[in-house]
Amino acid sequence: MYNSKITGLGYYVPDNVVTNDDLSKMMDTNDAWIQERTGIKERRWIKEGSEDTSAVMGAKAARIAIERAGLTSEDIEFVVFATLSPDYYFPGCGVQIQEMLGLKTVGALDVRNQCSGFIYALSVADKFVKTGDYKNVLVVGAEFHSGGLDKTTRGRGVTVIFGDGAGAAVISRTEDNTKGILSTHLHSEGKHAEELTVLAPSIRHWVPEIMEANDKNDESYFPYMNGTFVFKHAVVRFIEVISEGLQANNLSAEDINMFIPHQANLRISQFVQKKLRLSDDEVYNNIMKYGNTTAASIAIALTEAWEQGKVKDNDIVVLAAFGSGFTWGSVIIRW
Ligand code: UT7
Repeated sequence: MYNSKITGLGYYVPDNVVTNDDLSKMMDTNDAWIQERTGIKERRWIKEGSEDTSAVMGAKAARIAIERAGLTSEDIEFVVFATLSPDYYFPGCGVQIQEMLGLKTVGALDVRNQCSGFIYALSVADKFVKTGDYKNVLVVGAEFHSGGLDKTTRGRGVTVIFGDGAGAAVISRTEDNTKGILSTHLHSEGKHAEELTVLAPSIRHWVPEIMEANDKNDESYFPYMNGTFVFKHAVVRFIEVISEGLQANNLSAEDINMFIPHQANLRISQFVQKKLRLSDDEVYNNIMKYGNTTAASIAIALTEAWEQGKVKDNDIVVLAAFGSGFTWGSVIIRW
């Protein structure tokens, strides 16, 4: 058995800043409501006419991560790409990255686990490296939400939350058995699939049917979220899956040096922080600047925390996410 660790991190967000006041010009919302309920002050939305897509942003983040790992595209042996907003219905963004980065004809896998996507993707990469199959795996999380949101008052409960962006990590084989990814734990509960979903287009609600109905009021193209229901499940599952990870490594919450939660809602992060009795400098949040970037959020936050020197050698770093599916998971790392 080999060991695995994160050797490079990178992120990319579009330049275009959309403030809460900008949103209040599109729909019936306001800065006070958004900040109070979510903590979000602004987010990045890809500007119309930009070349950016989930795959393009993912490639930009990945180039930084590969360079910081001291590697070149030649060294990447496998790609795992997490997104709920792929450029095409199929094929997935993984193959686009293979082409955009000029990788060898390596395997490219897409992960469809929404807010938990980066955790699931890291877990896959970790296992491939630990089994000895690959030395360097590229993991990308990227989302182009703004193209698919309902920017009218009807969609305000969802639209104000989501932002665009990408993050990437290189997972590499290491001989050092004392550090690296210690564990990953993944869960799902599909009975709640329709509490946070985009229903169409899908095989059940397919394009000819939609075109024939030509119903401008059809909401099934837009994300639906039963916010309060999701919130209540999120706070429980976050704690459960973090405890599961800590226990598996004979650690306790007191051992955590840095907790990086999926950036779904600042109130969720603060609830979990309080339960784990972590101080403000033991948690990294950036939802204020970027909103919820789903599969990209942990990767962007981890990269920023690392860039700011907040993730240090030998630190116990905990990553955790909960979201659509429902799916949830945690990753425990000794940095
Ligand atoms: O990342 C994946 C997982 N996602 C999550 O974990 C998100 C979990 N849920 C949440 O973050 C919160 O539930 C939301 C931020 C989505 C909503 O916050 P809330 O405190 O649960 O509000 P609510 O949905 O109960 O809505 C309260 C009120 C409603 O009005 P009434 O019925 O009380 O008159 C909404 O219509 O706020 C209204 N509202 C808004 N008002 C202004 C909903 N969205 C907005 C808005 N601006 N954008």
